Amino acid sequence: MFKSVARAINFLLGKSFQNQHIFLSSSLEYLKRPRHLNKNYFDYVRLSTLELISNEINKKNLTGNVAELGVYKGKFARFINLYFKERKLYLFDTFEGFDERDVNTEKKKGFSSGSQNFSDTSVKSVLELMPYVKNCIPVKGFFPESAANIKDEFVFVSLDADLYEPIYEGLKFFYPSLVTGGYIFIHDFNNDNYPGARKAVEKFCAEQNISFVPIPDSAGSAIICK
Ligand SMILES: C[S@@+](CC[C@H](N)C(=O)[O-])C[C@H]1O[C@@H](n2cnc3c(N)ncnc32)[C@H](O)[C@@H]1O
Repeated sequence: MFKSVARAINFLLGKSFQNQHIFLSSSLEYLKRPRHLNKNYFDYVRLSTLELISNEINKKNLTGNVAELGVYKGKFARFINLYFKERKLYLFDTFEGFDERDVNTEKKKGFSSGSQNFSDTSVKSVLELMPYVKNCIPVKGFFPESAANIKDEFVFVSLDADLYEPIYEGLKFFYPSLVTGGYIFIHDFNNDNYPGARKAVEKFCAEQNISFVPIPDSAGSAIICK
């Protein structure tokens, strides 16, 4: 019944939806285990892929923790915390927006203006959003300097810092500490507003002779697996 309605909506309005970059599609129709998705997080592909990946990692009982570089208000980090509820979650951010050093590099390389404002957040408000707050470790400050004393192994990392420099530095920092079977999400790989994200991934992967998978979430993430 629902599928027929969805097909009818697609038939009548699918082209208009697609023009707005919205795709109505079936997904994992034959998977029987319960999935904990949130209908109010309006990026099904990003959230759903994270949920699937967490399931693979947790099923294998891999040892390691999780992290996000570029947390802002914690909208995505709260799901990392939810799906990896037994693991420590490092939350890396200035919590004051982009750093001038990164913005200067960004402009010099002709990638973006780095003018988006991400300063209206705080460690406190982010922690209030986390379902398993006891496992969260906020790391406030300029990355990679902020990570100088952090030595850990990771099963999952989300890099969502928008700009070339922190993404490239994030790959350099996290990839060596990623366990076999672990994943790194890099947001904005197919976002033309932040072309530095793609450049950072392409450069790092060419240097390391590794590959990535582009996925069709709303900002076009890439995923590296080890
Ligand atoms: C797009 S926002 C993150 C959005 C968030 N992941 C979400 O899904 O809602 C980008 C964040 O990266 C942070 N950021 C960028 N460069 C950074 C750096 N070098 N060190 C620490 N944080 C950085 C900014 O402060 C900003 O909060």
